[in-house]
Amino acid sequence: MPAEDAPMIRLEDYRPSDWLIDTVDLDIVLDATKTRVRALLKLRPNPHGRPGAPLVLDGDELTLGSIALDDVPLDPGLYSATPQTLTLASPPDRPFSLRLETELDPGANTKLMGLYRSSGVYCTQCEADGFRRITYFLDRPDVMSVYTVRLEAAKAEAPVLLANGNLVAAAELPGGERHFAVWHDPHPKPAYLFALVGGKLDHVRQPYVTAEGRKVELAVYVEPGKAGRAGWALDSLVRCMRWDERVFGRNYDLDVFNVVAVSDFNMGAMENKGLNIFNDKYVLADPQTASDGDYASIEAIIAHEYFHNWTGNRITCRDWFQLCLKEGLTVFRDQEFSSDERSRPVKRIADVRTLRATQFSEDAGPLAHPVRPRAYKEINNFYTPTVYEKGAEVIRMLKVLIGDDAFERGMDLYFERCDGTAATIEEFLDCFIETSGQDLAHFAQWYEQAGTPTVVAAGRYDAAAKSYTLDLAQSTPRTPGQPQKVPLVIPVALGLVGRSGDLPLSSISPALKAGGVVVLDQPSLSVTFTGLSEAPAPSLLRGFSAPVRLELDLGDAELLRLFTADSDSFNRWQALQTVATRALVRAGASGDLGGLDAKAGELAQALEGFLAGPATADPAFAAQALRLPGPADIAREIGKDVDPDAVFAAHRKLAREIGAALAGPLAALHAGLREAGPYSPAAGPAGRRALRNEALGLLALGAPAEASRLTQAQFADADNLTDRLAALAAMTLIPGEAREELIARFASLYAGEPLVLDKWLMAQALIPEDGTLDRVRGLMGHPAFSPGNPNRVRALIGGFAANLTQFNRADGAGYGFIAGIVIELDRANPQVASRLLGSFKSWRMLEDGRRELAKSALAMVAATPGLSRDVADIAARSLA
Ligand code: BES
Ligand code: ZN
Repeated sequence: MPAEDAPMIRLEDYRPSDWLIDTVDLDIVLDATKTRVRALLKLRPNPHGRPGAPLVLDGDELTLGSIALDDVPLDPGLYSATPQTLTLASPPDRPFSLRLETELDPGANTKLMGLYRSSGVYCTQCEADGFRRITYFLDRPDVMSVYTVRLEAAKAEAPVLLANGNLVAAAELPGGERHFAVWHDPHPKPAYLFALVGGKLDHVRQPYVTAEGRKVELAVYVEPGKAGRAGWALDSLVRCMRWDERVFGRNYDLDVFNVVAVSDFNMGAMENKGLNIFNDKYVLADPQTASDGDYASIEAIIAHEYFHNWTGNRITCRDWFQLCLKEGLTVFRDQEFSSDERSRPVKRIADVRTLRATQFSEDAGPLAHPVRPRAYKEINNFYTPTVYEKGAEVIRMLKVLIGDDAFERGMDLYFERCDGTAATIEEFLDCFIETSGQDLAHFAQWYEQAGTPTVVAAGRYDAAAKSYTLDLAQSTPRTPGQPQKVPLVIPVALGLVGRSGDLPLSSISPALKAGGVVVLDQPSLSVTFTGLSEAPAPSLLRGFSAPVRLELDLGDAELLRLFTADSDSFNRWQALQTVATRALVRAGASGDLGGLDAKAGELAQALEGFLAGPATADPAFAAQALRLPGPADIAREIGKDVDPDAVFAAHRKLAREIGAALAGPLAALHAGLREAGPYSPAAGPAGRRALRNEALGLLALGAPAEASRLTQAQFADADNLTDRLAALAAMTLIPGEAREELIARFASLYAGEPLVLDKWLMAQALIPEDGTLDRVRGLMGHPAFSPGNPNRVRALIGGFAANLTQFNRADGAGYGFIAGIVIELDRANPQVASRLLGSFKSWRMLEDGRRELAKSALAMVAATPGLSRDVADIAARSLA
C-alpha cells in the first residue's frame, strides 16, 4: 500500500482485542543472516471481545515458515499469511495454542526495529510496533503475556545472552561451541517491552537490596574494553532506585536489572522489562570522553527508563493514544529526580528552555497535536515534545492545583489500583479526583487541546485603597484540525514583590488558592490584592507553573528589579530573559538594530552588578543568567515573516556589546573559576565550569582576540572534555586560521572516539557562516561520519538542520540539502529520516521567499515515490 493511503487510526475506534495471549514461549537461534524464531502462543478468546471473531496477527516484513495449531500442522486452507498479517478466519472458539516459525536476517535490518545487529551485537527494539518484525503477534499494548525465552548462539559470537526477567537455565550444548540461556519474566507484559541481547560484551555489576528486602543483581553491559566507562550509569541506577523507593514508594520487582549499551539505536533508550537497552551515548562516560552535560543526561535517562518499570511496565498503556500516560508521567518523575540530585531552579530553567525550544515551536506549527492525539497514521511520529514535555507539564500543574498531599495519595492509589493493567488517562485522573475531591473534567482539556495558550497580564496599583488589581486573560491560537479553542485551567503561581521582598498576598477572590496560586479557568478574570502600602512588581508564573506564553505589561526597569529582588529563582532568570527577548524581537523583526545599544548597556550593567554580588555562590544559576535567549528563541517569539539573518544579526550585536562591555569581569570570572584538583562530574564543579565557559563564550564575541588566546590555552590545559568542548565551541565563533587548527587538533586528539567526534561534527555543523553547508558536505566524506549510524546522522545532519541561518539560507540550498538526505535515508531507516524531516516544522513562520523555498523542498519529499509511512506522514502534515 502506498504510504499516503495508510489508514488513519482513531482513538474513538478503540475496541478490546478479540483474542488474548496468556503465554509466549520463544526459542530463538541467533545467526547474523538466518535467525530462526519459534514461537508458541497460548491463545484464548477475550471475554470482552466479539465471540467467534477471526484471529488476525500482526506482522511486518515476515515470512511464515511453519504453523501448527495445538501441535497439529495447520491445513493451508485454514490460514492466510502475508508479510503484514497472519489470519485464521475461523479459529476454534476455545483456548488453543499456535506454533509459528519465522526466519529473520538481523544483519540486513537497517531500520533498527525488531531484531538487528549493532557492531556485531544482536539486539531488539520493539516499541512501538517492532515485535511484529520478529514473529506474528497481537502487537498491541493491551495484550499482555508471560514470556519465556530460550536463546541459542555460537559461544564465540555471543558469549552473553540476555532477555527479560530472570535467568532460569544456561548451559553449553554438546560439542562445546554453542550455548543457550533461558529467561523467564513472571510479569505479564505487552510485546513492545520484549527484548533480547546477544554478543560479546563486558559488564560492571553491583548487588542491590530493595527497601522491601529483595536482592537484585544490577549490571551495565558495554562493548568490550569499555567497562571503565560504565560506572557512572551504574551509580546513577543505584541512586534513582533509592529515590523511587523514598519518594514514590516504588520497589524493583525482579532478581536482575540489566542495562545494555549499543552503538546503533534510533532513540535514546528503551525500558524493556528488566533489560533496558540504551544508545551508548547515554551510558558511556569518563572525564575524557563525556561532558558535564553527558553525565547529567546519563543520570536522567537511566532514571527515566528505570522509572518506567512502574509507570509504563507494571502499569502500561491501553493503546498508543495513551502514550503520555507513561511518557509524560515518567518525564515528570525523571525531572523531579534530577531536581533533587542537583539544583532545582537550574533544572527548571533548563527544562523550560527545552520546552519552549521544542514543544512551543511544535505547537505553533503544522505538526501541532494534543498531548493525547485523537488520530494517527504512524505512531512513531507521535513520540514528540508535546507528548513528553508538555505531558510532564500537565502532571506538574495537576500537582500544583490539588496540592502535594492529594497528589501523593493519588499516585499511590494509581499504583495500587492499576497495577498489572493497561490503563487510560481517564483511569489515571480518576485517582486524583478521588484523593483531591476536585472535579478535574475541565483540567483534562489539557490532554485534548493543542496549542500554547497566551496569558495576558496587566496590573494597577491604587495607592489610596492600598490595593493592586491584576487582570489576567487567556487565549489559544487555532491549530490544525482545532479551529475553536476553549479556556483551560491555568495555575498562575505568583508573588507581589516590594522594595524589601515579597509582600503578603491577601484577597477575597476565590481564584486565589493556597500557596499563592491564582487559577485562571475562564477567558479572563481580575484579582484584587489588598493591604499593600507600596506599588508591587508582579512576579507571575513562578517556577513556570503552566506551559503558556506570558505577556506582561511590566517595564524593563521593573523587570530588572525583579532580576535582583524576586524570591523565585526561576522568575529572576525569566525577568532578564524577558528584557533581552523584547529588545531582540523588536530589532529582529524590524531589522533596525539601533535600539540595541542602550539595551546592551542596561543588561550589561545588571549583569555586572549580579556578577559582583553573591552570584558566584550559585554558579550554575549564574551561567543560566549569562546565557541570552538564542536566535531560535527570538525567531519563535517573532512568529511570522521571520528573516533568520535579521534575527541572527540582532542577536550577534547584543551579545557582542554585552561581551565587550563586560570583557573585564568576564575574563576575571574565567580566570577565577579554574578548578583545582581532579575532575568530578558533581553539580558543584560542573556549575563552576558552566559559568566559566559561559563567560568564555560571551568573551569570544565581545573581545575575540583575548578570547582566542584564552580558548587555546584552555584547550591545551584542560583535563576534561567539558572544557575542551567549550573551547571548541567558543573558537567556532571566531573565524580564522586558529579556529581551523583547533578543529584539526580536536579531531586527531579524539580519533577513534565516535561519540566525541559526534560533538566535533555538530560544532562545525552549527557554525553560523555561509561556508557551513560546504563544510558539512565535506564532513560527510570524513571517516568519522557514517550514514547508517543514527548518532552520526543526528550530529552532523541534524546539527546542520538546527543551524538557524544556514538551514534557512536565503537561496534555499539548506532546505534542498536536508530534503535530499531525508529521501535517501528513508530507504534505510524511516524513523531517522522522519525525525530529520521534522526540522521543517517551523517553515510557515518564515518570510515569503524562504517560505516558498522550504515549501518546495517539502513538496519534493512528499512527491517522492515509495516513501515510508513515517516520512510520508510528516511531509503531508507539514504541508497541510
Ligand atoms: N519508551 C521510550 C523509547 C522509545 C521512544 C521507543 C520512541 C519507541 C519510540 C523511552 O522511554 C524514552 O522515552 N526515551 C527517550 C529518552 C527519555 C529520557 C525522554 C528517548 O529515547 O529519546
Ligand atoms: Zn520514556
